Amino acid sequence: MDVQALFKLSYGLYVISAHSGERDYGCIANTLQQVTAEPPRLSVALNRNSVTAKAILESGHFCGTVLTETADLKLIGTFGFQNSEAVDKFAAFSTGTDENGARYLTEHAAARYSCKVVDTLDLGTHLLIVGQVEEAETLSQEPVMTYDYYYRVVKGGTPPTAPSYRGNASAAPQPGKKKQWRCKICGYVYDGDPLPADFVCPICGKGADQFEPV
Ligand SMILES: Cc1cc2nc3c(=O)[nH]c(=O)nc-3n(C[C@H](O)[C@H](O)[C@H](O)COP(=O)(O)O)c2cc1C
Repeated sequence: MDVQALFKLSYGLYVISAHSGERDYGCIANTLQQVTAEPPRLSVALNRNSVTAKAILESGHFCGTVLTETADLKLIGTFGFQNSEAVDKFAAFSTGTDENGARYLTEHAAARYSCKVVDTLDLGTHLLIVGQVEEAETLSQEPVMTYDYYYRVVKGGTPPTAPSYRGNASAAPQPGKKKQWRCKICGYVYDGDPLPADFVCPICGKGADQFEPV
């Protein structure tokens, strides 16, 4: 099988969020899509170990937010590489709260959809969650972030928990440029040389052994 052929599929980039108990949960997903129009329903494939997926199943609701091209590695690193039970992922961002209590970003966001879970399909590593849109709102007219833009321009990476995991971004060396080190996990770039042996990536928390020279 030509696994590379799967990389021809195109996606957007979204924050999927939920509120359960006293906590706010959220993660990055590229797998949100509209699956029916009447009534409007969306599906998203979430890793079964994601605490956001558990919060969605507990609360019966989720909110999907469309990211814009202005979303940077700090935002995607926070939501896409960290655990919602370890950090308050929303703390550093402007947010709103939907009618089900789920928080969503109001910056770097083009639209949000508040959904009631109507079906779940167990796919093994992932759960396909289907939600009926109860409320939809346009948040900005900025161009939306695509998966391709994230790889080519933002030069971010994807953790193995994503269904479309394809390894990590690596940039071609630029002669004459000050030496930099890139985190192979999330794409964060450290300016300078040498990279301290005890350096910890501020985005995804991995150590210096996960960095490669740019
Ligand atoms: C670009 C990108 C795309 C991702 N897509 C998905 C996805 O579609 N499904 C998924 O389960 N995780 C996906 N992830 C990984 C989750 O966002 C990540 O595992 C997150 O830390 C889970 O957070 P939580 O444990 O707080 O729920 C993606 C991450 C990135 C950076």
